[in-house]
Amino acid sequence: MEWGMKNRLSQLIQKDGKALFLPIDHGYFQGPTHGLEKPGETIKPIWQYADALMLTRGVLRNCIDPTIQKPVILRVSGAVSVVGEDLANESIVTSVKEVIRLNAAAVSMSVFVGTKGENKSLTNLGKLVDECEDYGIPVMAVTSVGRELEKREARYLALVARISAEIGARVVKTYYCKDNFEKVVDGCPVPVVIAGGPKTETQREVFDFVYDGMQKGAIGVNLGRNIWQTEYPLASMRAIRAIVHESFTPKEAEDLFEQVKAGKA
Ligand code: R5P
Repeated sequence: MEWGMKNRLSQLIQKDGKALFLPIDHGYFQGPTHGLEKPGETIKPIWQYADALMLTRGVLRNCIDPTIQKPVILRVSGAVSVVGEDLANESIVTSVKEVIRLNAAAVSMSVFVGTKGENKSLTNLGKLVDECEDYGIPVMAVTSVGRELEKREARYLALVARISAEIGARVVKTYYCKDNFEKVVDGCPVPVVIAGGPKTETQREVFDFVYDGMQKGAIGVNLGRNIWQTEYPLASMRAIRAIVHESFTPKEAEDLFEQVKAGKA
């Protein structure tokens, strides 16, 4: 692996081998998502606890202070919307020249397996990897499974994670599943991070799945709504960071959450 690629990956994956990415890219297909109406304000209390921010160029340019010392993972796929016909029919909407101009440490794009857009998104991934590898820029695949594959089961998650790695993704983002999550990680030859999905009922549920996912081999998270849509984003962020980087158990994370919430930590 060349110096540039190694250097960029080391900005994302910390010396302990773990990573906490904070995604605020949801507006790219959802518009002004609840909690992200003003992304710059949303991240103010929490960004310093993230290892990297994941976002689009529009939010980066307009809402983020360019003097911020935090690596950026630029989402470069999109051109679909929640009111459109097919969320899987994404295109690459940001050039590699722009990625370099914005000094991103990595790029991310969605990969949809089991949908009509499967071939298009996998072809997009291959092309993006080809272009980015020329400049030492890692690609993170944000994996999804559709239609009959919609069930978040290990065999489907493992399928899309493995295919993304085979095509050249350097990091894979997957959803967590309770049963056999280790199959997803073990079958994927590149580091795996877990997304949070829609906000859960309790904060403890998030601590539980992040902890379990990491016990089963994930290197960390790319987790948004279960941080910035919660009532206590700072407490949530710090508790999740403690699980990722300090091997806190869910119970220890919950205690820290309560302390931060009460202003005692
Ligand atoms: C989807 O909108 C994005 O790719 C997110 O970055 C990803 O799903 C992780 O965010 P969350 O934890 O909110 O699911």
